[in-house]
Amino acid sequence: MIESIKETEKTFLSEISEVKDQKELEEVRIKYLSRKGIVALLFEKLKDVSREEKPVIGKELNLLKNLLEAKFLEVKEKVDEDTGKQKKKIDLTLPGREIKIGSKHILTQTLDEIKSIFKGLGFSVHEGPELESDYNNFEALNFQADHPARDMQDTFFVTKDFLLRTHTSPVQIRVMTNSQPPIRVIMPGKVFRNEAVSARSHCQFHQVEGLCIDTDISFAELKGTLVAFAKQFYGKDLKYRFRASFFPFTEPSAEMDITCFLCKGSGCRVCKNTGWLEILGCGMVDPNVLKAVGYDSEKYTGYAFGMGIERTGMLKYGLTDIRTYFDNDLRFLKQF
Ligand code: DAH
Repeated sequence: MIESIKETEKTFLSEISEVKDQKELEEVRIKYLSRKGIVALLFEKLKDVSREEKPVIGKELNLLKNLLEAKFLEVKEKVDEDTGKQKKKIDLTLPGREIKIGSKHILTQTLDEIKSIFKGLGFSVHEGPELESDYNNFEALNFQADHPARDMQDTFFVTKDFLLRTHTSPVQIRVMTNSQPPIRVIMPGKVFRNEAVSARSHCQFHQVEGLCIDTDISFAELKGTLVAFAKQFYGKDLKYRFRASFFPFTEPSAEMDITCFLCKGSGCRVCKNTGWLEILGCGMVDPNVLKAVGYDSEKYTGYAFGMGIERTGMLKYGLTDIRTYFDNDLRFLKQF
């Protein structure tokens, strides 16, 4: 028995000294130290040993087991370290990996362009919160108490008095309450409506609001500014028209159309055979709105306008599904 112990120690030490990688090390472990390994078998044989010899051989066996385990751990540490180092080795002959540079989202690009055009026309940029009071979103903008937009069907109410803004127009109220004319400002941001998501509408989208307040501001100035914008954004050969409309916060109100990008005015599916596409709503600020913010409506006049950024981009690039903006599909995003 003592001889087998000595022999095991010898062969183990010689075998483990030859080990070169984790696989070989594992083989040695299984052979000697596993549940059915040589050391375990030796322990099993202990029961056949005479009672006198048992304490001596038992002690020897324990020593053997401890020695083998210690040596195993020592070699394992070294092998682990070596393989770690090998992994870290860099092969300088490999071709380099291409680093892809991201780009601005098409909505951000569209908004950047809109901002830059209006900055050139003397407007500054102001942002307001997405969570708004019912007062700023409706009341101060001259919406009657029973106006359909105030219905839960169209608006995400958070409490009775607070909601997710349904348009960027409430930022007009914030700007006017916190500053005095002359005002020339555009107000971009996210808006929310309780609508089913489809190719044409989404429950979340973006708008840019515009506001100009001063003494002697006329409808002609409104037209001049918006035409200057549209020509820079859509192209200088653009044809346009202003159509009478209604918004509670402007009087008179209008919508601006441009000729359809697809059929160039001859009539098609996109423009519903009219040849025209609506690009924004606008009008002269209603005196009731000026009064709500404490302005002298005899002294000051102004105009406001609002456009959807998704829609504006869709018209410019001929996109047909608003959802593609938010799908994060690189095949779409990379085109811009
Ligand atoms: N707030 C309107 C909407 O969401 C858009 C709009 C129309 C804004 C006319 C204006 C405006 O400032 O004068 O449909």
